[in-house]
Amino acid sequence: MNVMSIPVLTAVAWPYANGPRHIGHVSGFGVPSDVFARYQRMSGNDVLMISGTDEHGTPLLVQADKEGMNVHDLADRYNRVIVDDLAGLGLSYDLFTRTTTRNHYAVVQEMFRNVAKNGYLVTKKTVGAISPSSGRTLPDRYIEGTCPICDYDGARGDQCDNCGNQLDPADLINPVSKVNGETPKFVETEHWFLDLPALADALGDWLRGRKDWRPNVLKFSLNLLDDIRPRAMSRDIDWGIPIPVEGWQDRKDKRLYVWFDAVIGYLSASIEWAYRIGEPDAWRKWWNNPEALSYYFMGKDNITFHSQIWPAELLGYNGEGAKGGEESMLGELQLPTEVVSSEYLTMSGSKFSSSRGVVIYVKDFLKEFGPDALRYFIAAAGPENQDTDFTWDEYVRRTNQELANEWGNLVNRTVSMAHKNFGKIPTPGTLTDADMELRKRAEEAFDVVGKNLHRARFKAGISEAMRYVADANRYIAAQAPWQIAKTVKAGGPDAAEAEERLGTVLHTALQAVQDANTMMTPFMPHASQQIFETLGGDGIWAAQPEIHEVVDDMPVNPVGVGVPEAGRSYPVIMGDYEVEQAKWERQDITPGTPLSKPKPVFQKLDPELGETGPEWAPINND
Ligand code: MF3
Ligand code: ZN
Repeated sequence: MNVMSIPVLTAVAWPYANGPRHIGHVSGFGVPSDVFARYQRMSGNDVLMISGTDEHGTPLLVQADKEGMNVHDLADRYNRVIVDDLAGLGLSYDLFTRTTTRNHYAVVQEMFRNVAKNGYLVTKKTVGAISPSSGRTLPDRYIEGTCPICDYDGARGDQCDNCGNQLDPADLINPVSKVNGETPKFVETEHWFLDLPALADALGDWLRGRKDWRPNVLKFSLNLLDDIRPRAMSRDIDWGIPIPVEGWQDRKDKRLYVWFDAVIGYLSASIEWAYRIGEPDAWRKWWNNPEALSYYFMGKDNITFHSQIWPAELLGYNGEGAKGGEESMLGELQLPTEVVSSEYLTMSGSKFSSSRGVVIYVKDFLKEFGPDALRYFIAAAGPENQDTDFTWDEYVRRTNQELANEWGNLVNRTVSMAHKNFGKIPTPGTLTDADMELRKRAEEAFDVVGKNLHRARFKAGISEAMRYVADANRYIAAQAPWQIAKTVKAGGPDAAEAEERLGTVLHTALQAVQDANTMMTPFMPHASQQIFETLGGDGIWAAQPEIHEVVDDMPVNPVGVGVPEAGRSYPVIMGDYEVEQAKWERQDITPGTPLSKPKPVFQKLDPELGETGPEWAPINND
């Protein structure tokens, strides 16, 4: 790493281990975070990209019920499925783990204890829902009703997916149980509340100092401050992390709220990563260092938890609220630099949802089309700033016109001509204005794409990279190397001069392919590797994640409460990204490098696919 290297935490939302991922999920947290992390690494920054599966709470219990499975087995099953989905997309996590590890339990309990010690977690009597027929507690998620804030009629007891607000079940208008449709009864219960009002000033100071966030996200987050009240961080539920307090820790019916523990995953995964690379304190570089940057990637239904709950937990741990306090063994923890949230990817207007039967699974998609066309689609046409409809028609159009005709064709015809006429990268002669112009354009494009990626503006970034591709195609059309080749072939008096010019034009065009390929690398790392090899490169251009089987054997210090037994094995995504050769800069190609006949990089799709959809996700025309 060079001296200017900045530690950049890339914190990616943790998918619930309650089913396979669909393309809506990965358009929110997946592809954007990976484009960002890859760009940061190429720029020489020190990236730590972490995430895992979120395995507690009612989302898992609901699904376990549905599948008639034990919740532990369900978590194990979907943790594996999700690891495959995400690694298949080429998401370059330094560690993708899970929330049911020993280490996660211990870190969560350490956070809880110190936030409570500093006075920001307090007990309070409140009302909880029970089922009148069975007398059992009804978890928030099992209760549905009308949102008191936006009137949406499918709001859940914990949250409204329409407006994104956190709710308490007692807030719902006309609450009903999802289990059997009965009206829940509300009874008194005691819980731990995060004292958000005591942290409100500190949260406000932090938020008002944020620069350059997407306007929707900042506005939404600032609005949350207007209605700040204590939020329950425990639940009447038997699946979750035990509450590490005398009188609570042995109770089977009280657990930490899933969102209290999930966000702490960013920190616990960083600690696990450090342990797994054999440098147990390495995580502190991102967490205890005020120079470090941290970017959190997610869909918009997660904003509240990242721009309010998580920073509040961090401030509470640090002792930085109205009640003061002191940090503990984890040191002073840094708050997010930016919460980067996407909107929803919809399909003909409805939110992607397996329950409504409109679903395109990542796994099916990868099997048929590979990762990069989807990555491109999400970056170029995804829901970056507004809800966006996915259509097969648009997918086919972008793949055929933009990837195959524009970018793929630039690579293919340039390398084909150079291979046919020279068999290697030709040596350039004197450069004309047009040749120099294209080089200058490359420098400018690097700058524009880079600035946009640094600000997580992916659409603007990919558009500029594609504009550069279009300029390179225009350059080739204007120089018409195929005409020059005819003069060379004819062998007349102009042949020698023509050959030098042909070499110059093709060298310039190959250099443009190299430069465009560098700019495309964060977006389409698999295709970039192939194009790098097509240009005669060897070794690793863009590194890919790997799945490793590891054992949950971390020492937990101080000893946690109800921590899982050591010895379970589970898959993680990790990767050696230091070996990659791609850097965010123009790299000169080397004349004389042998070239072979190129294979097409992007397959064109049958236009009929745009009308019918694939067999596994047919378009429903009624
Ligand atoms: N599991 C949550 C969801 O799918 C996201 C959790 S993000 C976390 O909406 F980092 F906080 F875990
Ligand atoms: Zn609402």
